[in-house]
Amino acid sequence: MIILGIETSCDETSISVLKDGKEMLSNHISSQIDIHKEYGGVVPEIASRHHIKNIATIMEISLKEAGITLDDIDYIAVTYAPGLIGALLVGISFAKGISYGRDIPIIPVHHIKGHIYANFLEHKVELPLIALVVSGGHTNIIYLDENHKFTNLGGTLDDAVGESYDKVARVMGLGYPGGPIIDKLAYEGDSNNIPMPEPRVGGYDFSFSGVKTSVINYVNKMNMKQEEYNPADIAASFQTRVVDILCKKTLVAAKEKKVKNIVIAGGVAANSLLRKELLERGKLEGIEVFYPSMIMCTDNAGMIAAAGYYKLKFGDKNKVFANLKLNGIANMEIEED
Ligand code: KG4
Ligand code: ZN
Repeated sequence: MIILGIETSCDETSISVLKDGKEMLSNHISSQIDIHKEYGGVVPEIASRHHIKNIATIMEISLKEAGITLDDIDYIAVTYAPGLIGALLVGISFAKGISYGRDIPIIPVHHIKGHIYANFLEHKVELPLIALVVSGGHTNIIYLDENHKFTNLGGTLDDAVGESYDKVARVMGLGYPGGPIIDKLAYEGDSNNIPMPEPRVGGYDFSFSGVKTSVINYVNKMNMKQEEYNPADIAASFQTRVVDILCKKTLVAAKEKKVKNIVIAGGVAANSLLRKELLERGKLEGIEVFYPSMIMCTDNAGMIAAAGYYKLKFGDKNKVFANLKLNGIANMEIEED
């Protein structure tokens, strides 16, 4: 079974070819990051235009690399939400065009589920499991049962983790995206030098705005007093606190749900301290922790095709080929899919 994956939810245009749910024949990713860098974040309108410009060529490259043509495609898996509405529209319209022209069914895929299933492509993951979803727009703890049913146990009440990384980097003038920059810089700093508050949020919910604001206030205060501060100490203190919060709640969820596997998913799954800490703390509890390779942590169509494959196998049959209506496309929650 051959699935064509399409991902255009943010600033990566990506098309993949996946065979039998496991064998990635191609997974071409075209990043616009250098274009958006000068604006300090993704500009939605520019992102949409670049998707339109590139998508057909990227599909050609991907099909060629996989050694197939459109005639060999059985299904098209496309990201339908969440993301930038204009950017999503490009991928969805492209998918609809191929679907109509070639009579190939479309499987609409939730972007976050794609990030979770990236782990299934590279590891032997056992269900049930807990997924820690950490990206620029999401921070959630999700329970995935034996039948691939998703339950959201909790999420952030304010900023997402990646968003906080980006804002902390911005206030120090370090560039965009902030996550990888802070991650690297943290190794040169002392994590005990700047106090970071521990949010008091119950259950599996998170709050990162207090931690983020304490960094912003600290930097503004130092600037006002015209005193120097050490960005590496801030990076280390911020990162240590954030990773500790994420690890603690994820492990509590894993123990409560009695799962033996945890997967980390989303752009922040690339964070070196989070990968190391959760793996080590999981080991102490007899829980195996998986995370995708660095390239599979970024937005890519390979993970979308994988999620499409599992949706086809285990999904609600009435919903697998859902009509791609545009109503509320950006607002759909994980539970709805
Ligand atoms: O999943 P993703 O590519 O896009 C969304 O769906 O949001 O995640 C992007 C986010 C950005 O906020 C970026 O700063 C963060 O992931 N990120 C990291 C690291 N690499 C990327 N955050 C912390 N440490 C990293 N190494
Ligand atoms: Zn993403």
